[in-house]
Amino acid sequence: MVNVQNLTKIYGTQRAVNSISFEAKKGEILGFLGPNGAGKTTTMKILTGFIPQSEGKAEVCGYDVETESMEVRKRIGYLPEHNPLYKDMYVREYLDFVAGVHGIKKKKQRVAEMVEMTGLTREQNKHIGALSKGYRQRVGLAQAMMHDPEVLILDEPTSGLDPNQLAEIRSLIKNIGTERTVIFSTHIMQEVQALCNRVLIINKGNLVADDSIETLQQKVSGERIVTVEFAEKAPLSLLNAIKGVKKAAELKDKKYRLYAKGETDIRPAVFRAAVSNNLTLLGMQQEVNSVEDVFRSLTKG
Ligand SMILES: Nc1ncnc2c1ncn2[C@@H]1O[C@H](COP(=O)(O)OP(=O)(O)OP(=O)(O)O)[C@@H](O)[C@H]1O
Ligand SMILES: [Mg+2]
Repeated sequence: MVNVQNLTKIYGTQRAVNSISFEAKKGEILGFLGPNGAGKTTTMKILTGFIPQSEGKAEVCGYDVETESMEVRKRIGYLPEHNPLYKDMYVREYLDFVAGVHGIKKKKQRVAEMVEMTGLTREQNKHIGALSKGYRQRVGLAQAMMHDPEVLILDEPTSGLDPNQLAEIRSLIKNIGTERTVIFSTHIMQEVQALCNRVLIINKGNLVADDSIETLQQKVSGERIVTVEFAEKAPLSLLNAIKGVKKAAELKDKKYRLYAKGETDIRPAVFRAAVSNNLTLLGMQQEVNSVEDVFRSLTKG
């Protein structure tokens, strides 16, 4: 659906996007992560035909974004970062206009559908300029999805939404993603975990990760931490002697934290050590890296 090869954007002396390549297939929801200024918006603008690339190639549904821009625009929906909207237009009027641009036949019906889908029913007769930030965001989403595009490019779609709307828009994205291709950028890590099949992480224009969340977590885990709880006090010397444990530390209330190398699962050894030393194991929990840890480790410096 989306095919990007060695895509580069140069501004003056800066390589805002530096030879990135990736693919997105039908049914995939791709999270696009990266610190401020990493190149996310720039990449999205190229994919949607708003700015030309300096080097490389990008295709959407088999059409070249540079030379077949019109074909691409028919198949792609775009929510830009700053969501530029005609503030003097009424919500309905604007959506009508968008439907007209796309040549949608049952215009009225489709606009009504989109109003409903994005929770705009109560605001539909207002001026866009009079809407709150979150509602403007919803108008932007309605606009992006109006022509039922095969590919949706959403630049921080959930920024500024209240918790209720956040949940609704996320489930909307998830639904769309089952049959379409969605690429969205965000700074909210839980969102990535909740929505994405795959994550792209970009840092200073370079693609530093293209993996599932699980794979990413494993890749960066230099250390595993296992928290254990016993019914009685356990000598640290005993815990330190368990095979694979690098260090044991007491937390409180007969709880201990055990550190091990990333590749070793020490839990079976902990269990056996507890049994053979007559310790009553009440709980054992392995901590995994959060997406946030992964993000930090790949983009720091
Ligand atoms: N029109 C432009 N002229 C010059 N430099 C630009 C232009 N547009 C973007 N840049 C630079 O390109 C880099 C990437 O910007 P981009 O907007 O793609 O980042 P981003 O990943 O979307 O960041 P954010 O998370 O803050 O939205 C930045 O250093 C930015 O200053
Ligand atoms: Mg951006």
